Amino acid sequence: MDGKIFLGGGGADYAEKQGLTLKYANRHGLIAGATGTGKTVTLQILAEGFAAAGVPVFLSDVKGDLSGLAAAGSADFKLHDAFTSRAEKIGFADYGYEAFPVTFWDLFGDHGHPVRTTVAEIGPLLLARLMELSEAQEGILNIAFRLADEQGMPLLDLKDLQALLVWVGENRTELALRYGNISVNSIGAIQRRLLVLENEGAAKLFGEPALELDDLMRTAPDGRGYINILAADKLMGSPRLYATFLLWLLSELFENLPEVGDPDKPKLVFFFDEAHLLFDGAPKALIDKVEQVARLIRSKGVGVYFVTQNPDDIPEDILGQLGNRVQHALRAFTARDKKALRLAAETYRPNPRFVTEEAIREVGVGEAVTSMLMKKGVPGIVERTLIRPPSSQLGPLSPADRKAVLANSSLAGKYDTPVDRRSAYEILTARAKAAAQEAEQLEAREEDMAPMEREFTAARRYSGSRVRRSSARTLRVRADDTFGEAMTKMVMKELSGTTGRRIVRGVLGGLFKGR
Ligand SMILES: Nc1ncnc2c1ncn2[C@@H]1O[C@H](COP(=O)(O)OP(=O)(O)OP(=O)(O)O)[C@@H](O)[C@H]1O
Ligand SMILES: [Mg+2]
Repeated sequence: MDGKIFLGGGGADYAEKQGLTLKYANRHGLIAGATGTGKTVTLQILAEGFAAAGVPVFLSDVKGDLSGLAAAGSADFKLHDAFTSRAEKIGFADYGYEAFPVTFWDLFGDHGHPVRTTVAEIGPLLLARLMELSEAQEGILNIAFRLADEQGMPLLDLKDLQALLVWVGENRTELALRYGNISVNSIGAIQRRLLVLENEGAAKLFGEPALELDDLMRTAPDGRGYINILAADKLMGSPRLYATFLLWLLSELFENLPEVGDPDKPKLVFFFDEAHLLFDGAPKALIDKVEQVARLIRSKGVGVYFVTQNPDDIPEDILGQLGNRVQHALRAFTARDKKALRLAAETYRPNPRFVTEEAIREVGVGEAVTSMLMKKGVPGIVERTLIRPPSSQLGPLSPADRKAVLANSSLAGKYDTPVDRRSAYEILTARAKAAAQEAEQLEAREEDMAPMEREFTAARRYSGSRVRRSSARTLRVRADDTFGEAMTKMVMKELSGTTGRRIVRGVLGGLFKGR
């Protein structure tokens, strides 16, 4: 199986070796099938195969059962005999048990290294989708991002965004001159959505240290690729957060990786379990973008594999791009099921030995109708393939073993402690505090004054530019400055000493521009 990942046995008696060609592994794939038909094990053996070939893998673990990849299977396991006889049947002579290099990640930081990104990097489009904002609310979010960008106020965590929105609300009269009407109701609605996000645990996703993509693309000293496992059991409770995060990750990869065309093997392979969550109720514009990202990320050497119960769950344009397919059994109870099954069958190159539609209905557990890309990227004829048994442990790692893997990880410590550097929240809070102090000092001074003097000072306070401010950071804002110029001055002052990195990047890079 040179240049291929061994998948299992096909042909009349399952003796013909079937493989996934590494050269075409970046042309994406699909693992589908009804519940209990073998999707997770297929994902597991593919992850093993990629890792063994030196390709790093990223996968989401919805039920927690993929953590077993970090441990070797065992002859004491109840399925040991079933596994060995299956291996014999498909001519898998050197089948043995083996553990794989695994890195655990967890958005909530409980069962893996915390994964974080900043509000600015997620960007207004994905955030608006995450919060299910209306068009008007999304407009305000865009203004807020733009202002933060212009004013050099880093948007790192949710409290930065909250503070910024308060500030936008307070200054909406001035801002309206430039951006049009800003409704307090809309700001309130966004704030409420942010609270919901916080309650879902999203606050943990936003902040620093942010994830470095290189840490997902590591190979172990023995040359095998690391398998990055994202704990997704709890995350499934917030499907939107899950989908947004994975979409963000894909777009980050797209933006940051160089073009490589069709490499001998992928740079990274990404498995997206419960993929239907990405598309359920998603607006057409977003589905189009996913389609676009999937099409373009190929040339960066990233293969994306969608795992889902029914191929029907995946929009047609995207389905059409999934070149390597493992279709486990589908049940056909209703007329709709039957139609979906027929449509699924039609997308394969027929095999004279069997009828595809029947095969998809009949295949046993751990068996699948497979079609892999062959020479020149042409889809191969369908096969009925008995999928190989896993070499790593089937089922979850014990909590103690998981802890040990985490403790021994070379990334231990790197992401564990959140860092809260000076950003929008701190800047705006400091500003408000300074203003309050100033007012207080002024009042205190007035109290010490003789009544006559006090009246005089109070009168002077209303004479505008002649008022002397106590703060050393006073800004000279001329009356004829435009609002924007005044803002810029304020920001230059605010920013002196901090790095002026441009914080709002195009959402999802050039791809999402001009939406
Ligand atoms: N390739 C295989 N080799 C050996 N046993 C297998 C294989 N595939 C599946 N099995 C057996 O079938 C069981 C169910 O498979 P799996 O958990 O992969 O199903 P699934 O499609 O992911 O189900 P669900 O939709 O519930 O997640 C496994 O626990 C294992 O016992
Ligand atoms: Mg499963």
